[in-house]
Amino acid sequence: MRIDKYLSDNSIGTRKEIKSLIKAGLVQVNDAQVSDPGMHIDPVKDVVKYDGRVILYEPFHYFMLNKPAGCISATAEKNETTVVDLLAGENIKNLSPVGRLDKDTEGLLILTDDGHLLHNLISPSKHVGKEYLVKTAHALSEKDLSALRDGVDIGDDKKTLPAEAFILDGDLHLVIYEGRFHQVKRMLEAVGNSVLYLKRLRMGKLVLDENLEPGVYRKLTKDELDLLS
Ligand code: URA
Repeated sequence: MRIDKYLSDNSIGTRKEIKSLIKAGLVQVNDAQVSDPGMHIDPVKDVVKYDGRVILYEPFHYFMLNKPAGCISATAEKNETTVVDLLAGENIKNLSPVGRLDKDTEGLLILTDDGHLLHNLISPSKHVGKEYLVKTAHALSEKDLSALRDGVDIGDDKKTLPAEAFILDGDLHLVIYEGRFHQVKRMLEAVGNSVLYLKRLRMGKLVLDENLEPGVYRKLTKDELDLLS
């Protein structure tokens, strides 16, 4: 692999910026200064340093964002702030949100450039559970909870798959195993209610880090990443 690609894949900068960094003598491979951005290296065996710091090879990148209301779950959109815009400082190509949250929904959103993981998490056949905290316009009865658990008619060909629905600290927690358009909102409408506030708390076994304020993100830890595989 070329040294400039290695460094750009690891968010050191664009290829153009890396060319300048190499020219400035800031890049070393196995303790020898690099002068050619096209130099080929072995990402497993060679030790690459930038500004004296070892840069370990990360083929893919994984982030947890506490999505704020008001931004959209897309990679780019004219006149709108997207979730990918919030991570622009990372300089990572092909970063995509794993699934979509509505503009007014907050909470856990994973962003990655690992297409395989993305596919595994959003593929309907994988039935990854997504837990939402839902503030509703009206209190829910036992009958409503039971209907949400059994599956409701939201106007599609099939009713929704069985879900988990329970009240915790006065709020509905709904765990769904599919990802239909506006699914939670439509499920609540199906039981004569409506959603005032929606936040995703969990995806599979990965729980939102409550220390992340809305709009703030961080890298997933190795343990968190293992939870997703
Ligand atoms: N269901 C919805 O209705 N909206 C979301 O953002 C996520 C799930």
